[in-house]
Amino acid sequence: MGSYGMLAKRAIQTDTPVMVQIQEVLRGAKDAMSLAQGVVYWQPPKRALDRAKEIVWDPAVSRYGADEGLPELREALIRKLRQENNIHKSSVMVTAGANQAFVNVVLTLCDAGDSVVMFAPYYFNAYMSFQMTGVTDILVGPGNPETLHPDTDWLEKTLRETKPTPKLVTVVNPGNPSGTYIPEPLLKRISDICRDAGCWLVVDNTYEYFMYDGLKHSCVEGNHIVNIFSFSKAYGMMGWRVGYIAYPSAVDGFAAQLLKIQDNIPICAAIISQRLALYSLEMGPEWVTEQVKHLVKNRALVLEALSPLGEKAVKGGEGAIYLWAKLPDKSVDDFEVVRWLAYKHGVVVIPGSACGCPGHVRVSFGGLLEEDCRVAAERLRKGLEELVRDGMVH
Ligand SMILES: Cc1ncc(COP(=O)(O)O)c(C=O)c1O
Repeated sequence: MGSYGMLAKRAIQTDTPVMVQIQEVLRGAKDAMSLAQGVVYWQPPKRALDRAKEIVWDPAVSRYGADEGLPELREALIRKLRQENNIHKSSVMVTAGANQAFVNVVLTLCDAGDSVVMFAPYYFNAYMSFQMTGVTDILVGPGNPETLHPDTDWLEKTLRETKPTPKLVTVVNPGNPSGTYIPEPLLKRISDICRDAGCWLVVDNTYEYFMYDGLKHSCVEGNHIVNIFSFSKAYGMMGWRVGYIAYPSAVDGFAAQLLKIQDNIPICAAIISQRLALYSLEMGPEWVTEQVKHLVKNRALVLEALSPLGEKAVKGGEGAIYLWAKLPDKSVDDFEVVRWLAYKHGVVVIPGSACGCPGHVRVSFGGLLEEDCRVAAERLRKGLEELVRDGMVH
């Protein structure tokens, strides 16, 4: 029997996860250093981890919890949303990370065959969430060539002219893969365009605390807006899998439909992870900003490493943990460049084609301590100098 014949087209026709491909490259390239994966180098707050250690024998930890999340965590999150995000009229569901939150939201809001809107360069997992749920009409809008900000004229025109009207627009703020921050007036403008067109806006705020140079992150709220958050990066909790959805309380049926999806995927996020999230949250946002401020040095190191590409080639990085760079025109196959950098120069980055932009790379500066980041950045700089000078010489 042909191996593909019995498998679902929606899975087969979904992109292959780039991180899995990159992990293969990392395994194959001896002693390569990773500037690829979107991770942070810190662990959760020690006090929170110590408290989590104490509760493993509490029987409640081994039982199912409420689908929406532990009541005390949801209460704490509602307070946090009010105080930090100016979100007052939203309900909260705790999920097994922001990626699961996004799938929940797509399954709750979109039908197979709907069209949706993203902006290039886009977050690959969000793209895949659409593909695998049958939402294959994905309209990818342009960013401003200088700032990479979503092009709102294009958005307005597209929402007006596409029939039926696209169901949902999604942005990541600050962005993955670009690290671009969407300033508040622009986010409001995107929100107004979506509201006027009768279209949902889903904002992924995974990197809300990862802001540099005095910039301040902000959220928008409304009956057409869903906000997604994550504990993964802020609290170094990648492996604990906790995120959450803030959705409009006033929209009839939203909670009931969302609950059906949740009950069939994780039922609830792991209880011990939710407790750790609560203990971490109690450390306050200051704990996170204290960690994040050390990344400024890493960003400077990576920025300097990208300089052989020319100043104009490097964009983003106002927030999140990423810089976005255009490869020289002759380097058409970005995945080949990524492999060459890994095998010849011992440093791994993400190919832009995974984000809808061939000929670019995403470089993450969050996963390594400064000393290691310095070594990785030096390798990257040497590799890029050679690439610009001689091309990919093996
Ligand atoms: C924009 C964005 N959303 C979601 C995620 C996934 O987060 P989580 O670990 O909470 O699922 C990531 C991780 O890289 C991300 O960059």
